[in-house]
Amino acid sequence: MIDCCLVGAGFIGPVHAANLATHPRARLTWVIDLDLRAAETLAGKHGAHAGRDLGEALADEAVGAVIVCTPPRTHAPIIEAAARAGKAIFCEKPIDLDLARVGACADVLAQTRVPFCVGFNRRFDPTHRALHDAIRSGEIGRPEMLILSSRDPEISPPDYVAAMPDGIFYDTMIHDFDMLRWLLDDEPVEIYARTACMLDATENPHRDPDTAMVVLRMAKGALVHVNSSFRAVYGYDQRIEAFGEKGML
Ligand SMILES: NC(=O)c1ccc[n+]([C@@H]2O[C@H](COP(=O)([O-])OP(=O)(O)OC[C@H]3O[C@@H](n4cnc5c(N)ncnc54)[C@H](O)[C@@H]3O)[C@@H](O)[C@H]2O)c1
Repeated sequence: MIDCCLVGAGFIGPVHAANLATHPRARLTWVIDLDLRAAETLAGKHGAHAGRDLGEALADEAVGAVIVCTPPRTHAPIIEAAARAGKAIFCEKPIDLDLARVGACADVLAQTRVPFCVGFNRRFDPTHRALHDAIRSGEIGRPEMLILSSRDPEISPPDYVAAMPDGIFYDTMIHDFDMLRWLLDDEPVEIYARTACMLDATENPHRDPDTAMVVLRMAKGALVHVNSSFRAVYGYDQRIEAFGEKGML
């Protein structure tokens, strides 16, 4: 049984807590949040300790893993503290918004050698996994084009947008960037992006990009197109088309 400490009891924290509760080999024993009331509410549902001080939970030798569900700019110091305490870590995406800061974090993880996983959940979705396996088994031969449509029903609240400008890339398309690398087992060598503000000033007061198209060329030659919107009026829309020399999936 792995005792887990969950940090961040906002929107996604309770989702992970509910998943932990159904796992036969994991148990939620700590919930840490700067908002003590949020920590107590979630901890109360799962019979866990609640607190504001991560150090207290990290000092608990029974804790084997830390689940990081706080806003992106807080991830790196939490990862580093958990790694130095020898805990396995699951962290929500993105690790940080600054590549140099991500590198520093990676150095600490390499030194401490703790297990680490970023929350790219689509890799574990059965339909995405089936597409991945079909491409890998050669069903469409050499992949030539990948088209990812990635559309959210609505833009995040203004405070959330203010805290993470260009969220269409860092918050949403980050999943597609992970998908395309994973599906094609390849890295981009060229990238071109255009953004637009299609939402009006009431919906998008910060005039942050709410619509985007990205075209990439991969090292093995495949072309990739990702399109994204924060206003899919018909609901959460995620589609991938993989086109290759022998067919289409
Ligand atoms: N994989 C996905 O599909 C998915 C979906 C939603 C959110 N996320 C990610 O999850 C993370 C959290 O998003 P959210 O929507 O739950 O945010 P949120 O704002 O709803 O919740 C964050 C919580 O963290 C707490 N917090 C902030 N700083 C803290 C700190 N230093 N120590 C302890 N607690 C702190 C806040 O009080 C709040 O309760 C983000 O990185 C986001 O990108 C991923």
